[in-house]
Amino acid sequence: KTTTMNPAILFLLLFCVIIESQPSSSVDVVQVGLRQSVSLACRPDDVAQNEEELVWLRNGEKIKLMEENKKGESKVCISPAIYDDNGATFTCYLQSNSSDVAFVTLNVTYHPELNGSEEVTIEEEESLVLQCDMRANPLLSSMLWTLNGSMVDLLAGGFTVTSDGFTSVLQARRVEKSVHGGTYKCTATSPSAGVHSKLFHVIVTEKTIKFPLMPTIAGLVVVFLTALLAVVSRWKKITKVINKKNAK
Ligand SMILES: *[C@@H]1O[C@H](CO)[C@@H](O)[C@H](O)[C@H]1NC(C)=O
Ligand SMILES: *[C@@H]1O[C@H](CO)[C@@H](O)[C@H](O)[C@H]1NC(C)=O
Ligand SMILES: *[C@@H]1O[C@H](CO)[C@@H](O)[C@H](O)[C@H]1NC(C)=O
Ligand SMILES: *[C@@H]1O[C@H](CO)[C@@H](O)[C@H](O)[C@H]1NC(C)=O
Repeated sequence: KTTTMNPAILFLLLFCVIIESQPSSSVDVVQVGLRQSVSLACRPDDVAQNEEELVWLRNGEKIKLMEENKKGESKVCISPAIYDDNGATFTCYLQSNSSDVAFVTLNVTYHPELNGSEEVTIEEEESLVLQCDMRANPLLSSMLWTLNGSMVDLLAGGFTVTSDGFTSVLQARRVEKSVHGGTYKCTATSPSAGVHSKLFHVIVTEKTIKFPLMPTIAGLVVVFLTALLAVVSRWKKITKVINKKNAK
C-alpha cells in the first residue's frame, strides 16, 4: 500500500480566507506585511490519517496547540507578524512520523517607519544628531538627507552620515546658526514600498553661558580616585588580616 506515504500538505490562508491552496507542490516562502496576519494550515492528504495528531514547530520549537486544532486540519495564525517573524520557519508533521515534513518560511516585508516632523532646538557649538529608521525588507540601499531642499553638503557643514542597517544618523559637531539651521529631511525610496520621509525643523539658538562643567568633573574624578584608594588600602589590610589568620 503506497498511499500511506503522504507528504503533509501545507496551504495558505490570508486573513483567515483561503486565497491559495497547493495540494501537491509545497509553498516554501510566504510573504506577509509587518503587522498583518497570516494563517498557515496543515493536513495529511490521506483521510485515513485524519485521526493522527499533527505537530507544529516554529524555528524548531514546538508550538502549543489547542486540543481541537491537532487532528485533521491544523492551523497556526501569526497575528500580527512582527520583525522577528521574518525568516522564521514553520514546520508541520504527523506525530507518528516525523520523517515526512512540510515547511514554510515567512518573508515579512516592511518599510522604514518615517513620517511627520520633529522640532529640534539646539545651541550654537553643540552637536547635532538626527536619526531616521531605515529597517526595511527588502533592504534599503540608501537614505537621502536634504537641508532646505538640497542635498546635505557633507564637507561644507562638517556633517557625517552613518548607518548600522537599522538607523541612519546625520551628525554635525559644533553647529553654527548660518550653516546648520533649517529644515532637514531624510527620505527612503524603495521600488516595492515607495517613498517614506521624515522632517526635522532645526533651530539653532545663541550660545548661553553655562555653569563651567570642567572643574566639577575634575573635582569628581579626584574624589572618586581618593575613594578608590581608600578602598584599595582597606582591602590590603583586610587581606593581611585574612592572611594572618591563615598563617595561624
Ligand atoms: C513515514 O513517512 C515516510 C515518508 O512518507 C515513509 O517512507 C515511512 O514509511 C513512514 N513511516 C511510518 C512509520 O509510517
Ligand atoms: C521577500 O519579499 C520581497 C518582496 O517581494 C522580495 O524582494 C524578497 O526577495 C523576499 N525575500 C525572500 C528571502 O524571499
Ligand atoms: C510614525 O513613525 C513612528 C516612528 O518614528 C511610528 O511609531 C508611528 O507609528 C508612525 N505613524 C504612522 C501614522 O505611520
Ligand atoms: C534654510 O531655510 C531657513 C528658512 O528659510 C533659513 O533660515 C536657513 O538659514 C536656511 N539654512 C541654510 C543652511 O541655508
